[in-house]
Formats: sequence, C-alpha cells, structure tokens
Amino acid sequence: MFEALNPLPQDPILQLMLQFREDTRPDKVDLGIGVYKDDAGNTPIMAAVTEAERRLLEGETTKSYVGPAGSAGFNNAMATLILGDNSPLIRDGRTSVVQTPGGCGALRMAAEFLRLCKTDITVWVSTPTWANHLPLLGGAGLTIREYSYLNPNTLEVDFAGMQETLETAKAGDVVLLHGCCHNPSGADLSLKQWKEVTSLIQRKGLLPFVDMAYQGLGEGLEADAAGVRHLAGAVPEMIIAASCSKNFGLYRERTGALALISGTASVNSAATSQLLGIIRSHYSMPPAHGAAIVETILEDEKLRAQWQEELNGMCERILHLRHAFADTLAPVGDFRFIARQRGMFSFLGISPEQVARLRTEHGIYLLDSSRVNVAGLNDRVLPRVADAMNDILE
Ligand code: LMR
Repeated sequence: MFEALNPLPQDPILQLMLQFREDTRPDKVDLGIGVYKDDAGNTPIMAAVTEAERRLLEGETTKSYVGPAGSAGFNNAMATLILGDNSPLIRDGRTSVVQTPGGCGALRMAAEFLRLCKTDITVWVSTPTWANHLPLLGGAGLTIREYSYLNPNTLEVDFAGMQETLETAKAGDVVLLHGCCHNPSGADLSLKQWKEVTSLIQRKGLLPFVDMAYQGLGEGLEADAAGVRHLAGAVPEMIIAASCSKNFGLYRERTGALALISGTASVNSAATSQLLGIIRSHYSMPPAHGAAIVETILEDEKLRAQWQEELNGMCERILHLRHAFADTLAPVGDFRFIARQRGMFSFLGISPEQVARLRTEHGIYLLDSSRVNVAGLNDRVLPRVADAMNDILE
C-alpha cells in the first residue's frame, strides 16, 4: 500500500528552519520561523518557567493520567487569562476550557468539533492566513473560503474588503479571526473594527472562531485580548484556540487550550462532553508538563508577576525592533507600516526571487511570501539587513 504514495513537499516554514540550521555561514540571520529570540539570537527559557519546573520536579508525586480535559487548574487559569478577571462568561458556566497539545491541537479539535455539530461547515479564513490553518481545518473536512484582509499595496488591513466578503457568508458559517498579532501580516484590527466585525457576525448569525496564539506579544496581555473579549461578550457561541508556545516560550512542550462558549451552562456542558469524546478518540489526553508549568506560574502571585515582567520585556523589545527596523530601512523605502503593526510578523512586500537573493547572497532567511519574524532581528544585524535590502531592491 505504501508504494502508491508520492513524497509530500515539506511545510515551507519547517523546511526553512532546517535549511537555516544547515547553513554554515556564521553571520546568517534567521527571520523565518516564528520563535522569539533575544538580543544574542537565542530563544531563551523564561526564568519563571525554569523556577516553575524546579518546583514541579520537587513537588510532583505522580505521572498518572491527567484525563482528556487535562488539568482543571490550568484550564481555569487559561479561561481567566483569555476572558479576563470576573468574566460573566466564566461565572455563569457558559465557558469551558480544555487543555490541548499546543494551539494546533486546539485548532484541530475545534475543527473536529464543528464537523460533529454539522457535516457541512464553511470556515472563512483571512487572505492571507497562517499556512497551517488550511490543513488543520481542511483536514477535518471543513470547507475553507477566504475573506479579504490585507491590502497588498499598503500591507495594512483592507477593512472594507473584509466586511464586503464576510457579507456574503451564510448564517452558520464560521469566521476564523486572529485574536492579535496577525500571522503572517502583523496587521491587526483596531478595537473599533473588532466592534464592527462583532456587529456583522451578530447580524449574519456567523460563528466566531478565534486563534489566540500571541497574547501579550502585541501590546500587552489585556490590550491584546480586548477585541476577543468584546466579541465573546456579544455573541451566543464562540470558539477560542489559545497557545502558550510564544507567551510562555513553551514551544516544544505543546501547550495550548481550547475554549468553548455556549449560550447556556447546560448547552456548554453537553457540548464539552462531545468535545472530550473527540479528544479521547484522537490523542486520548494532552501531555501534562507544559500545562503544569503554566498552571504553577499563573497560580503563584510572585511567579506570575515575574512571568508578566519577562513577557512585557519581550513585547517591548519587539516594539523597539519594529521602530528600529522601519527607521533603518528608511533610506531604502517607506517601511513605516512595520512600526504600526504588532506581534512577530510583517511582510516586506518583496518578490520570492528577491527573498531567494537575500537567502543565497546575504544569508538572511525569511519566508517566500516575504514574511519576516521581527523578533529574529537585533540592533547588530539591522544595518546588515538594511544593506542587503538595498542591494536586492536596486
Ligand atoms: C510560525 O508561523 O512560524 C509559527 O507559528 C511556527 C509554526 O509552527 O509554523
């Protein structure tokens, strides 16, 4: 049977990661895969994470199963992190959160859940969106349609285009929104635009599905969740997939959460039981370690403050780099939009051929789409990247 299979092309993001690792040039620059890097170019383990791990190692008494929902402590802490302190959605039992293997696990389980609700589901994704959204959602059998999101000339949100395409969606269709730090463009909706999208979703009877992979890395934990919280407070049902990969730096620990919001507590309880059945039939239970770290941090006042300070430092460093990058590129062209965007990514708006030249001639790695991971920059490499950009744009 296996002989009938053709080799599958590598995922472009993961392929670039490997290509970068194999490049022996000492001054190579990785602006490809979305991992946070410090000034020295390392992806550090946060000090709060190391301390939580130390406590876990000392205090852990069992490796017995956690159950399909994962840890209740983690789930409660994530519900509050996403929806805010004193959220009526939590208080009234309209929200349930389950622990998942990363944000990807949450996205896929949500897709399987939607498929269980209705066999024929259309999910609208932004153009562009994170490349892995397509197999994660499409692989569960959802039909994918695209709504306009980015103006290709200005590389900023084309809000009128977004509204126009979403107007053609039908009641019961699902809309995938990026909670903050849009991947790959960095172009986020303003709070005013979130409010307008909320009205559109309400009026048309659409189901909002939010991918929240970068909370805390745009403008801060609370500001980054403002749009999502507004939306959640206004609609009867909603799905949120959250990731702890970036804001806790737990990438390889595969730590994420899936929140279901339903109209009533009893609907939520039935819906969650179905979701747990889906989880049981896919991977049975999530891995424990990453979620135990997050739970330890969020439940301890001092550790939580330490984590928040570290996260704020990462967020501020990215904001600094965004401004510094736009300034350094000023002699090359108008890249001020980079300073206005948020999170790790922005497009440079150059062609795949120019991207290839940056890689082969200058050892600078970005995705063919021209997406750069701003967090991969530092003040030392900025002038070199600007020189290289000048070279390829000449
Ligand atoms: C990215 O977009 O680079 C990250 O989300 C990492 C990944 O898995 O693609």
